Amino acid sequence: MPSATMRARRVGVLISGRGSNLQALVDAGREGRLGGEVVVVVSNLASAGGLERARQAGVPALVLDHRGAAREDYDAELAIRLGEYGVELVCLAGFTRRLTAAFLSAFPGRVLNVHPSLLPAFPGLQAQRQALEHGVRVSGATVHLVDAGLDTGPILLQEAVPVHEDDDIDTLSARILQAEHRLYPRAARLLLEGRCRVEGRRVRIMDAA
Ligand code: GRF
Repeated sequence: MPSATMRARRVGVLISGRGSNLQALVDAGREGRLGGEVVVVVSNLASAGGLERARQAGVPALVLDHRGAAREDYDAELAIRLGEYGVELVCLAGFTRRLTAAFLSAFPGRVLNVHPSLLPAFPGLQAQRQALEHGVRVSGATVHLVDAGLDTGPILLQEAVPVHEDDDIDTLSARILQAEHRLYPRAARLLLEGRCRVEGRRVRIMDAA
C-alpha cells in the first residue's frame, strides 16, 4: 500500500566535478548497500569527470548547461529531467549550484547533500581550507537534507576526522573524502528505507523494521 512512508528507490545524482561521491553511491547501489539505485546523473558542466564515471557504470549521464538560463528556468528543467527518470531521491555530489525553493518543493525532504566539514562549522566553499585556517583539531563530513540556505538543512549523519599536525589542504581533504564515501551511501539508505523523521532541526533515525 502506498503511504507517506513509501520507500523511494530511484536516485538521481547532481554533479559538477570529479564525481567520487557519485561513484560511492553507484557502487553502493550495485552492492545492495543503498536501498536503491542511481538511475541518472546530471551535470551543469560538460567538463565534469563524473560524467565519464556514470557512463562507465552504464548510468545515463546528462549535461544541463546553466549558462544563459534564468535560475528558475534552469531548476524547472532540472526537475523535469529528473522526473522523466522517476527520481525520488536527489543526491547532490559536488554540485556547485544553489537550488531554488521551487525545485526543493518538487522533492520535499528528498534532496541530500554531502559537505566536507562538521556542520554548522565551515559552510560554503573551501570548507577544508576554512578548517585548517581556523586551527580546529577535528573536522569531518556531514550529510544533510537540503533547504533554501547554504548548507543549513537538518543533519542526517556526520563522521569526525582528525586534523593532523602536518596536514595541508590536500591531505585533510583526502581524509575527509574517505569519510564522505562511507557516510553518503549510509545516509541515502536511511532515507530510502523510510527511516528518517524530521522534527524541526533534528532528524530522528528509526531502527530498521
Ligand atoms: C566533496 O568534498 C563534497 O563534500 C563537496 O564537493 C566535493 C565533491 O567531490 N560538496 P566529488 O566530486 O564527489 O569527488
